[in-house]
Amino acid sequence: MEGITTLLQPRPLPDFVETPFVKDTVERALTYIMAGFSIHSRGASGTGKTTLAMHVASKLGRPVAMIHGSEQVSSSDLVGGENGYRATKVIDNFIHSVLKTEENVRRQWMDNRLTVACRYGFTFIYDEFTRSRPEINNVLLSVLQEKMLDLPHEGNGDSYLRVHPEFTAIFTSNPEEYAGVYRSQDALRDRMVTMDLDYFDKETEVEITVAKSGIQRSDAETIVRIVRDLRDSGLCEFAPTVRGCIMTARAMKVHGLSIASSDGRFNQFCLDILCSESSRGATGLGKHASGRHWARSSTAIVPLTAASQMRRRHCLVEITDCPGCDTDHVRRSTT
Ligand SMILES: Nc1ncnc2c1ncn2[C@@H]1O[C@H](COP(=O)(O)OP(=O)(O)O)[C@@H](O)[C@H]1O
Ligand SMILES: [Mg+2]
Repeated sequence: MEGITTLLQPRPLPDFVETPFVKDTVERALTYIMAGFSIHSRGASGTGKTTLAMHVASKLGRPVAMIHGSEQVSSSDLVGGENGYRATKVIDNFIHSVLKTEENVRRQWMDNRLTVACRYGFTFIYDEFTRSRPEINNVLLSVLQEKMLDLPHEGNGDSYLRVHPEFTAIFTSNPEEYAGVYRSQDALRDRMVTMDLDYFDKETEVEITVAKSGIQRSDAETIVRIVRDLRDSGLCEFAPTVRGCIMTARAMKVHGLSIASSDGRFNQFCLDILCSESSRGATGLGKHASGRHWARSSTAIVPLTAASQMRRRHCLVEITDCPGCDTDHVRRSTT
């Protein structure tokens, strides 16, 4: 293999949670791959897209070439380019008083991740591929359809690489409304099976929170309930995800706290973590003159109640004397 391309050796993820919800998604993904298709998991942040891609790759057992989409990704990051130099040096000092050196430097083609995966039949994970400029991703059209990779710069002229039969591509993407995300080309989407991932069910969120933090199950259940209530309230600019559950739980774990013994800190962790997760910030979190904390979403200003109230009401949202609130809206969210 020319040049150096970093590959990942997939291993089963040690704390991977496999509830019936997750199993169903994994099985569907593997079915489409076995049928010869590339898969694309699309969903909001925190719906487990990257983890699913890594898990499915570990089931396939082939080395993984992974790339993260971004505005900066170029064709050479995918396919390769004439980046390297091959240097040869001849030193002729046969006659010790005469030193003759000859140096010859040639530019050399180096495969990059997509080419390596196509050439050797590895798994190619393109995480958040719609963050890359659409024209950069055009090279994938013929890879997915004709199973040919166009290598315009290899050797002295145009050439094509026949894609190895064991090559598999796994894509992930966020919804188009997210900042920095391009609309994916219809032609490309048409060549892959897109699985729309929803937020995990409650059982899975609890299992993941416990697995990733080590807190007590009853506390994980409370955190998950708060996050799901906040998500369902429709008050958040961005719905909080299982990431918020994990972060809150880990913060509790650092102090060895249970919710009952947290002495107000649980409430503060929720404010810090869940409010920052659910809005773009700036006005996302405020403190009222009364000393209460308020989470501001795009549609309302929501006071965050004490942990005990959260548990009793099974809801994070309570309206008292906050100016600017839409009462109907909030009443609906507290039922
Ligand atoms: N099946 C799973 N088992 C354990 N942890 C998971 C599982 N799915 C997702 N997670 C965890 O949930 C969080 C969000 O998952 P991630 O794959 O990063 O989501 P996305 O890529 O959709 O933003 C991560 O911390 C990840 O480790
Ligand atoms: Mg991801």
